[in-house]
Amino acid sequence: MIDLAGTTAVVTGASRGIGAATAELLRQAGARVAGLARSLEPREEADRWDLPCDLTDSPALASACGQIVERWGAPDVVVNNAGLFLLRPFEDTDAEAFDRQLAANLQAPFGVARAFLPAMRQAGRGTLVTVGSVSDHTGLPENAAYAASKYGLRGLHEALSAEYRGSGVRFSLVSPGPTDTSMWDPVDPDARPGFLARSDMLRPEDVAQAIVFVVSRPAWVQVDWLRLGPVSPSA
Ligand SMILES: NC(=O)c1ccc[n+]([C@@H]2O[C@H](COP(=O)([O-])OP(=O)(O)OC[C@H]3O[C@@H](n4cnc5c(N)ncnc54)[C@H](OP(=O)(O)O)[C@@H]3O)[C@@H](O)[C@H]2O)c1
Repeated sequence: MIDLAGTTAVVTGASRGIGAATAELLRQAGARVAGLARSLEPREEADRWDLPCDLTDSPALASACGQIVERWGAPDVVVNNAGLFLLRPFEDTDAEAFDRQLAANLQAPFGVARAFLPAMRQAGRGTLVTVGSVSDHTGLPENAAYAASKYGLRGLHEALSAEYRGSGVRFSLVSPGPTDTSMWDPVDPDARPGFLARSDMLRPEDVAQAIVFVVSRPAWVQVDWLRLGPVSPSA
């Protein structure tokens, strides 16, 4: 039984999918959880605080994260999960679409890290989890913009991990394979030959469990990189 009582956690993209499952599992383990996402309704309960926020809006990001640090101090756990997916042939991917991927998947996590790491370093503890993807280490067709953002995110994770070594703050990259969330709605993989059926994908709870495993290791253990995917042979 994982016990995170007395700890605080921040989860980006907590309105649905992997982020919602992670926020709920952290809460069930006893953590006080602050959620950030655009479509969250403002909510303040003893163990759950939701702050609606567009993380691609730098002042809004700074304000929301600043409120959390001001009220809770350095978080014990930050999960950089919010993200956008794009499956589009390269020649149809214009500069605006590329920018949107980088803004949500790379610049926003960079901003979240900048907002929390100074307090975490000062506290000498905490775990920053980055939610990557298969596309943070594998190039796939029609995936150039998303892969560029996720490879960049893995670079951010690795550089921070090196820079903060010895600070007490630890860094984990969790890279899931296909997971059945609303991210796949526009793609409709069940209707596309060669795509993994949604019923064969990971469930959001599978990824949430991996994240909670990572953040609940003893303070001297760092899970640098955890990759998980569906067993299905077609995955
Ligand atoms: N599903 C998969 O197969 C899969 C596989 C590997 C990795 N991942 C990664 O897992 C993470 C979560 O994805 P998911 O599958 O759970 O997708 P999802 O169901 O579409 O959820 C995405 C989350 O990100 C939030 N978000 C997006 N843009 C945002 C913005 N500008 N500001 C604040 N929040 C924003 C969304 O909230 P709002 O819309 O309310 O803002 C939502 O909560 C992503 O980083 C994704 O790349 C997913």
